[in-house]
Amino acid sequence: MATTFCLINQKGGCGKSSTCFHLAGAFAELGMNVLLLDMDPQGSLSQGFLGSEFVESLSSKETMTMLFDESSFFESRDALLHPTQFDGITICPANQTLAPFNAPEPEKTGMLQYAIREFLTEQHDYDVVLIDCPPNLYRCSWTSMVAADYVVIPVPPEDFGTQGLRAVHQCVQQARQLNPDLRRLGHLITRCDQRLLVHRMYEQKLRELYGEMVLDTVITEASAFKVALTRRRPVQFHDAESKAAKLTLSLAREILDRISLDERKRKVA
Ligand SMILES: Nc1ncnc2c1ncn2[C@@H]1O[C@H](COP(=O)(O)OP(=O)(O)OP(=O)(O)O)[C@@H](O)[C@H]1O
Ligand SMILES: [Mg+2]
Repeated sequence: MATTFCLINQKGGCGKSSTCFHLAGAFAELGMNVLLLDMDPQGSLSQGFLGSEFVESLSSKETMTMLFDESSFFESRDALLHPTQFDGITICPANQTLAPFNAPEPEKTGMLQYAIREFLTEQHDYDVVLIDCPPNLYRCSWTSMVAADYVVIPVPPEDFGTQGLRAVHQCVQQARQLNPDLRRLGHLITRCDQRLLVHRMYEQKLRELYGEMVLDTVITEASAFKVALTRRRPVQFHDAESKAAKLTLSLAREILDRISLDERKRKVA
């Protein structure tokens, strides 16, 4: 079975999609088969791999929408899986057709809460699944948490309101009622400029608050991430020698180390 991670934060622009995009490249570089699920109606991750025009032209049956749309329940899910130009990376895209389904109060949607979880039980070819969530904690994020093994919370080092993070943690706690195995892999500091005192202070504060629940790897703000995205190539395949590519590879390795440590701890417990 694949290990499934969902990237969640209700703050917009904190690097959820960018992290999924580049991390997919790093995992693929490490020889893993990666499945990406785009759960954001904005479709940024899908557009990154497949291009805007193509993604916007997809019908709901070719996107994650089909998992929530009653008229598609009995159709094959194969049309959802889109290969990318990179070996080892497959994506289930999203576009605006998903927006009407991303409603608040997701815990009132009965069996549909398990839609992604059920879909993933049918996928046997992958080592890692990364789910990109929208900047809210509605149904798309909720069903992702119900399906995931681990939550990763990307945080830019300027978000001093702890209110937002508290809501994310509460939501993870609630989702555990349906998915008791859901674990927090940790907070991932993104878009960090370590020359700025304010960013260094934020990092220190976050590590004081959350200790081991902050990943050691810090993703810095770097133009290589943006340039690679505009070329539709994870930074690993755009410029493997760049600092951005090396950082992303370290992040992938740290994630794999953390999950193997977590699995060992669970076996002992
Ligand atoms: N480490 C980075 N260095 C430079 N630019 C970055 C970095 N991370 C993200 N960006 C840029 O910041 C913008 C927002 O990033 P991204 O789309 O990944 O955020 P998001 O959390 O997915 O946003 P949303 O909440 O809208 O889905 C994008 O233009 C992206 O290319
Ligand atoms: Mg996004």
